Amino acid sequence: MELCIIGSGYVGLVTGACFAEVGHHVICVDNDQRKVDMLQRGEIPIFEPGLEDLVQRNVAAKRLRFTNSIEDGVDNSQIVFIAVPTPPQVDGSVDLTYIERVAREIAGVLKPGQYRVIVDKSTVPVKTGEKVQATIQRYNQNAELDVISNPEFLREGCAIPDLMRPDRIVIGSSSQRATDLMKRVYEPFQVPILVTDVNSAELIKHAANSFLSLKISYINAVSAICEASGADVEMVADGIGMDRRIGRNFLNAGLGYGGSCFPKDVKAFIAIADELGAPFQLLKEVERINAGQLDRFLKKVREALWVLREKRITVWGLTFKPDTDDVRNSVAIDLINKLVAEGAHVTAYDPKGMEKAREYSLIPTSVKLAATAVEAAEGAEALILATEWKEFASQDFAKVKAVMHTPQVFDGRNLFNPKTMREMGFAYHGVGRA
Ligand code: UGA
Repeated sequence: MELCIIGSGYVGLVTGACFAEVGHHVICVDNDQRKVDMLQRGEIPIFEPGLEDLVQRNVAAKRLRFTNSIEDGVDNSQIVFIAVPTPPQVDGSVDLTYIERVAREIAGVLKPGQYRVIVDKSTVPVKTGEKVQATIQRYNQNAELDVISNPEFLREGCAIPDLMRPDRIVIGSSSQRATDLMKRVYEPFQVPILVTDVNSAELIKHAANSFLSLKISYINAVSAICEASGADVEMVADGIGMDRRIGRNFLNAGLGYGGSCFPKDVKAFIAIADELGAPFQLLKEVERINAGQLDRFLKKVREALWVLREKRITVWGLTFKPDTDDVRNSVAIDLINKLVAEGAHVTAYDPKGMEKAREYSLIPTSVKLAATAVEAAEGAEALILATEWKEFASQDFAKVKAVMHTPQVFDGRNLFNPKTMREMGFAYHGVGRA
């Protein structure tokens, strides 16, 4: 099929590349000409395993191309996906400026007799589809279109497998014609498709991300009880997760959730519920627990080191989770800033996130960045694991211990085996376990 994706950010780019991979012809539109040129050359502005290969292969096969012209995209496609950012505003509600602008731009280029399905892929508040449809029709009375919702559930770091083999595809549509076309788009993926009305599909996305955040906060609250009682949160998570109704996924206690989706979407869902007059108090508690998790962890660091001022502390990890270079809303970054504010001397190392952390000035210039994990640990009085990269689990800990000043490990993601660490001579502190 002929498809157009407006917005070549994380979701747009990965979606476009995967659609091309299964045989569709895809035009990715972005208003940043530099980005368009880079992508057309096969250069990828983000780190996502497998993405560079996928883009290069499909550009070479002429199934994928990039342009800055919405008209080019809309003219030459049956279906137009909108995948532009929907950032948070100060009050937590969603800023829909980019979506509204794209709706007007589509209206400006739609020609009479050109039926198009307009698909909202960005995460948007319930009822946005109705507004997009009304906006396009207001600016172009002859427009023939259906606006539908098709939320994306991919995770950064495993975006390609998530997109190629998703648990489900949600299509929110009130038009059989549009639904049939969308089913053809997803036919090659051979996955279950749930067809709903537009409002329900939009709600599914916020409800899903909020539920996953709730699961994380739940286990983090349990981790506090484990610490107070001497129980082990990993065993508790295994025990409850073996119940298939609950499931073990997203029950990993740690420093809390971060990234550009969960914090934003929980806030947005709270704002949406408030605006609709159906306040969602439970989600406020989810946020409170999440924020408290880092403070509880820092308290443990203080209890062991006493005063943090002038202490040399190593932080392993900057990204909000492993296998990505994304440092936005990363708890690791918050942690470093709090340590520095207390006067600690921090040296950090991350396999992929150091460049962006510096580029966006997310950490103070006084924070040293080391070339390797072991180098970062040199002279340290404490080592804090903030992001669970596999590379950290497979370090030579005899070497790490030898270079540290005092061998204390604070494992913010329960990555290491406490028994092994203690046998090696480390003082070990995890989350929710002794
Ligand atoms: C999340 C959702 O998982 C995707 O389904 C969704 O499409 C995406 O948001 C989005 O809305 O675009 P993502 O933010 O890439 O994906 O990352 P996750 O793997 O979900 O992790 C989010 C945060 O939760 C990370 O900071 C991670 O460390 C934390 N987390 C995750 C935990 O603390 N414990 C867990 O058990 C799982």
